Amino acid sequence: MFLGAGLRVGHVSNKVIGRDRRQPYGFLRSVQGVVCACADNAGFLRALQKCRTRIRAPFCCPGHHGQPEKLWPPLREVLDRERHALVTLDLAEQPELDNLQQPTGILRAVQERAAAVFDTVHTFFLVNGSTSGILAALLAVCSQLGQDPSRFYALVPRNAHQSVFHALALTGLHPVYLTPEVVDSRYDILGPVSESTIEAALVAFAPQVAVVLLTSPTYHGFVANVRSIAARCRRYGAWLVVDEAHGAHLGFSPELPQSARQMGADLVVQSTHKTLMALTQAAMLHVPCGSRLAVEDVAEAVRMVSSTSPNAWLVASLDATVAALADTPWCQAWFERACTLGQAIRRRLPTLPNDDATRCCLLLPDDIDGFLFDAHLLDHYGVYMELAGRATSTGIVTGANDASHVAILEEAFTALTTDSRLRGTRESRVHTLRPMDSVQGVFRAASCTLRVSLHQRRRWCPLQHAANQVASATISVYPPGIPVVLPGERIDPPLVSYLLDASRCGCAISGVHGPEQHVAVVDDVPPATRCHQAP
Ligand SMILES: Cc1ncc(COP(=O)(O)O)c(C=O)c1O
Repeated sequence: MFLGAGLRVGHVSNKVIGRDRRQPYGFLRSVQGVVCACADNAGFLRALQKCRTRIRAPFCCPGHHGQPEKLWPPLREVLDRERHALVTLDLAEQPELDNLQQPTGILRAVQERAAAVFDTVHTFFLVNGSTSGILAALLAVCSQLGQDPSRFYALVPRNAHQSVFHALALTGLHPVYLTPEVVDSRYDILGPVSESTIEAALVAFAPQVAVVLLTSPTYHGFVANVRSIAARCRRYGAWLVVDEAHGAHLGFSPELPQSARQMGADLVVQSTHKTLMALTQAAMLHVPCGSRLAVEDVAEAVRMVSSTSPNAWLVASLDATVAALADTPWCQAWFERACTLGQAIRRRLPTLPNDDATRCCLLLPDDIDGFLFDAHLLDHYGVYMELAGRATSTGIVTGANDASHVAILEEAFTALTTDSRLRGTRESRVHTLRPMDSVQGVFRAASCTLRVSLHQRRRWCPLQHAANQVASATISVYPPGIPVVLPGERIDPPLVSYLLDASRCGCAISGVHGPEQHVAVVDDVPPATRCHQAP
């Protein structure tokens, strides 16, 4: 991901102090160490068990946080009664269990129930995360175009999740990258893309804009003004898809912001597993009331990206989540707990002011490295946060948390921020690796579609000679793990200096290979159909 890169330091081993200065983030490599150490028979199974025992205070996905006692009681009862439920209820293709690809019985009924609870025209259950929802959403939009999608633009935040870029590669839509707002440059915090940026891009590219894709809320809990953006999209004839992967809980409590499904989006994708209580991978694609897309067209797109063997437990966990949300007293207590605990963290620890009370972004003292801090949180205190940043550590609070988790977090934060081993660990050079360095102006059209650049014959070019070439793969720097180049983007000369500099500093760069630092580029790029750069 663009900023923060979904880097989950919770997976690192406990050998993090005493880093090699040439490879200051070398502790990330120890991730492989953990895997290798367990890579005997059923190594992953054992690693999974071991991991579970380390967590004392979960502030990470999934939203149930591995706390069965906090689950909706009827679900808990099934788990208690069916001691081996994972296996005994792993049923597929029984006639009474219906078919998620073509639901006519129970799965039709439970998705209708979901639509009622989420107040949508239709809600699709997904078993391959928001990733599949985003692929399906852009495929559904393309089914409306009636022409080669490469003649149309998709306006997307440059820091969108990788699934958005993969959807662009699959559909062939021509990307226009939008620059998100910088909320706090000191902490590298980006917000959603502003209405004015979207308006400017719509003016420049309409009527060829097929779709605007928004990420809202952001990883750090900032919510876009979806209502106003939706109105603009309608005015310019563009569909609005909202990646609400981190906002499945929105709209269910007066203390939380509204969801995009309530604010005029055409399609909304949510990772039910991230902030509600479904199992990992279980997600939803909503067709909200007032959507300009037909449910049948979306259904066909969902079918294209879905397994024909959906895991019954994933589906059941979505169904149980819907039932829990419909159980008003239980649901109120769940969200009240989440919001109260989120507020308690805000009161006791330095946090970023954001829109979502349940997304707590801890602000670290100036000289403490956030990645190292997160690794210590897990290793020494069992606190499992969701996302490490250079200067922040972000956690997800849900109704599965309790006051003891907050107390552990507070104790750990106080101890670690005064721990002399962590002071002075933030690398000053990382300050030069700004999230927005790769995006100039307010928006920028890619020089060709991601599909074209991925399907061109690749050439491997030494990084130092790569200026003005067009990349055919993503290049990202850790930290902060930002794709500084996407397939189809031209590698600007300053970007080459920046990457060479980052490499000299010992930063890990993905997409750059071998001692000669080769990067994948494409030769025969068709001339850009339109290439705009905002002032
Ligand atoms: C903004 C955003 N969108 C989409 C996704 C994909 O979600 P999933 O993991 O449910 O496929 C993620 C995952 O982290 C994300 O952060």
